[in-house]
Amino acid sequence: MQSYRLERFGSLEGLRLIDEPQPVFGRNQVLIKVHACSLNYRDLAILHGTGTLSPKAGLIPLSDGVGEVIATGEAVSLFNIGDRVAGSFFPYWFSGKRDDAAARGTYGTQADGWLTQYKVVDEETLVAIPDYLSWEQAATLPCAAVTAWNSLQQSRPIQPGECILTQGTGGVALFAVQFAKLMGARVIALTSSDEKAQLLTTLGADHIINYQQNPEWSVKVRELTQGKGVARVVEIGGPGTLKQSLLSTAAGGEIALLGFVASGSQAVDFMTLFKSGATVRPFSVGSREDFIAMNAALTLSQLQPVVGKVFAFEQAVEAWRYFDSRQQTGKVVISIS
Ligand SMILES: NC(=O)c1ccc[n+]([C@@H]2O[C@H](COP(=O)([O-])OP(=O)(O)OC[C@H]3O[C@@H](n4cnc5c(N)ncnc54)[C@H](OP(=O)(O)O)[C@@H]3O)[C@@H](O)[C@H]2O)c1
Repeated sequence: MQSYRLERFGSLEGLRLIDEPQPVFGRNQVLIKVHACSLNYRDLAILHGTGTLSPKAGLIPLSDGVGEVIATGEAVSLFNIGDRVAGSFFPYWFSGKRDDAAARGTYGTQADGWLTQYKVVDEETLVAIPDYLSWEQAATLPCAAVTAWNSLQQSRPIQPGECILTQGTGGVALFAVQFAKLMGARVIALTSSDEKAQLLTTLGADHIINYQQNPEWSVKVRELTQGKGVARVVEIGGPGTLKQSLLSTAAGGEIALLGFVASGSQAVDFMTLFKSGATVRPFSVGSREDFIAMNAALTLSQLQPVVGKVFAFEQAVEAWRYFDSRQQTGKVVISIS
């Protein structure tokens, strides 16, 4: 079988396609024929060494993959041959709070990931994927969708009629817009492009603000919310957006702090933080239980994930290069069928 391995960090020169033996499965494990993977900003951070992670070199990259179970160990009871499955982002975070044991074995940093033709995993690390989704759509779920779901569901689930703010048109942001509309929320969405604004409107965003034309966009957010501010910010920008997010949040509201794509920094001074009355909640993706709950909502709503572009397995380097060029809208997927 063939796999990609990220042998060196720093550039795509380090991503190599290699022939290797198909992995052997144990009693509690399943063998999966991988059908699709998706790229996340995290994968660029790993490549360029710009994230908070300390990845091992030489691993198969990518946290997000889906496929079909083609063989099972003798003690496997949760899945059968033919089942369609996804890997959970934190394979050993099953439910509740994430402790050190739950954070182990993450794909592409501590263990081999999904950019391969066949993969062996413990059955308990898998989640069944909704029947109505194609392989390519389902490959968008493990990181971006679960993160967007938890940005709105955790701490206090968003209530109908509340107003939320999303940032950009990447994988997490578009799922956040879609989930917020399912929950009956009003959405103010930021983007840098009029073309992408169209897509946000199609997905149900109620108001769009161009953050490049309006660097002090919190003023507009306040206008759109009659001075009150939003109940929740899905904080994707991080260093370059946090100050505006604090100025946009209603007293008692929350900033679900998950990303760091926006460079530059508007320094957050003490008084801005203090006067905002907002809670800042850093968090990381979610558990297997969260993934399963989200899938129930997907199945009921038949929500359509936004797949921006699909590349073939042989074009994986091109897919990474395209994703690195930051032109994409929605998810970039690699098909392995
Ligand atoms: N904590 C977690 O659990 C978790 C999980 C998933 C992702 N993340 C993080 O979340 C971030 C987004 O991930 P992703 O995979 O969705 O990224 P992505 O698909 O690469 O999307 C990035 C988007 O960010 C938008 N953006 C850039 N600068 C911005 C700014 N100044 N203001 C508003 N929007 C801006 C752009 O939107 P436009 O092109 O529309 O301008 C761009 O499309 C990354 O930092 C990633 O590491 C964290």
